[in-house]
Amino acid sequence: MEHCDPAELRRRYEGIGLDEAEAATDPVAQFRVWFDEAAGSGLPEPNAMVLTTATPDGVPRGRTVLLKAYDSAGFVFYTNLTSRKGREIAANPRACLVFPWHPIRRQVIVTGEVEELPREESAAYFRSRPYGSQIGAWASRQSAVIGSRAELDARFAELSRRWPEGTEVPLPDFWGGLRVRPYEMEFWQGRGDRLHDRLRYRRTDGDWVLERLSP
Ligand SMILES: Cc1cc2nc3c(=O)[nH]c(=O)nc-3n(C[C@H](O)[C@H](O)[C@H](O)COP(=O)(O)O)c2cc1C
Repeated sequence: MEHCDPAELRRRYEGIGLDEAEAATDPVAQFRVWFDEAAGSGLPEPNAMVLTTATPDGVPRGRTVLLKAYDSAGFVFYTNLTSRKGREIAANPRACLVFPWHPIRRQVIVTGEVEELPREESAAYFRSRPYGSQIGAWASRQSAVIGSRAELDARFAELSRRWPEGTEVPLPDFWGGLRVRPYEMEFWQGRGDRLHDRLRYRRTDGDWVLERLSP
């Protein structure tokens, strides 16, 4: 069988360019333009983003989560608050998000402070989820070691008897939304000869400073 040598995977990045004159003054407005283009390009799960957290002493960890909402306040995802990421964020409320839109030669990196959504907002989102996902959230002690798949399935079955389909499943107290409030956002556009465009927005007392970074 032929193996793929990653060193041979050379692509010519000849994107359409991103310059200071056309970039929005607000990074969330710029994100909106790119997010809509990513979604419109047919890219699967354009809202999948790699969330990196770190322990207070600096041990990092990344994993994929789904962006569920965004606006000028920040970028929202939902998770188990007692999971590894939840505990890391509670102890060190900063995070980085990477949107890896490789097929369209783009990447967006968001760095910011993390805050929990008000419980009513998390409850409203939880109610909008399919029944199975609601029971699944209750059934999983996310990030904990479990003995077997059967244990998880049995827990799911038990909880579906407790809250049969059609009844209201309450929001678990260990589950909710987290918002990353950006203080830095970088937009990367692949260009030819590895001379990519990198525009970084940096928040300074209420205003955004736009700077170009060397590729
Ligand atoms: C495409 C994709 C989307 C995911 N979306 C979420 C999500 O929105 N929330 C979540 O808690 N986990 C999501 N996961 C699972 C996480 O990657 C991860 O396994 C889980 O949250 C436990 O992470 P932790 O142990 O680091 O806390 C997703 C995984 C993939 C591959």
